[in-house]
Amino acid sequence: MQNKRVKIAISKGRILNEVCAYLAKAGYPNNIGEKNSRELVFNVKNLQILACKPSDVPKYVELGAADCGIVGSDCISEAECDIYEPISLPIGKCKMVLACSKNKKLKLKSGMSIKIGTKYPKITRAFFLKQSITPEIVFLNGSVELAPLTGLADAIVDITETGSTIKENNLKIIETIMEISAKVVVNKTSFRTLNKEIETIISALTKKIKI
Ligand code: PRP
Repeated sequence: MQNKRVKIAISKGRILNEVCAYLAKAGYPNNIGEKNSRELVFNVKNLQILACKPSDVPKYVELGAADCGIVGSDCISEAECDIYEPISLPIGKCKMVLACSKNKKLKLKSGMSIKIGTKYPKITRAFFLKQSITPEIVFLNGSVELAPLTGLADAIVDITETGSTIKENNLKIIETIMEISAKVVVNKTSFRTLNKEIETIISALTKKIKI
């Protein structure tokens, strides 16, 4: 009997090309990353690929619109969804940091007041609460590095990969909050009902792939 088609949500942000190259090396040839189109659904072998906004991938998987997904661990932590996270992949590596203007003296002290610009309010709150600080959070959708430069916030919590955005905007890293990489996430019901198909994907993705 032919395997059922598995719906897999993948981030269409900065890790899309890396994920597509990784899927291709795992035996799922495709050219989604190279396609200059507005299409959001692609059928590739026994997969149906859904190109989602990164922060939405965990939600698509939790609610069963996708059976599984590939997304950065930053989005998984922020989403706090009820999903399985069976494997980490050696792609999409970056880190979540606290950063502020180069010329600012910022020392974290219990009970202090601080205003943080971020796309990651839950991760930010959890990080500061561990240090007995209740931050004021300014939720931003992008260009987060602008916040300390304009006085919108004292500092930011954001991801950095190459470090260029931080450097080019005269910011400095105060602390690394977490290391990030892409992970496979799976819907809890699909893990039972499509177990064979999902195990096949996981095993293809965990093969020793030279990247
Ligand atoms: C991300 C992140 C930083 C930047 C860091 O933004 O929010 O701004 O990348 O990357 P770097 O360390 O390699 O310079 P993204 O490019 O996803 O766009 P955004 O500003 O719209 O969030």
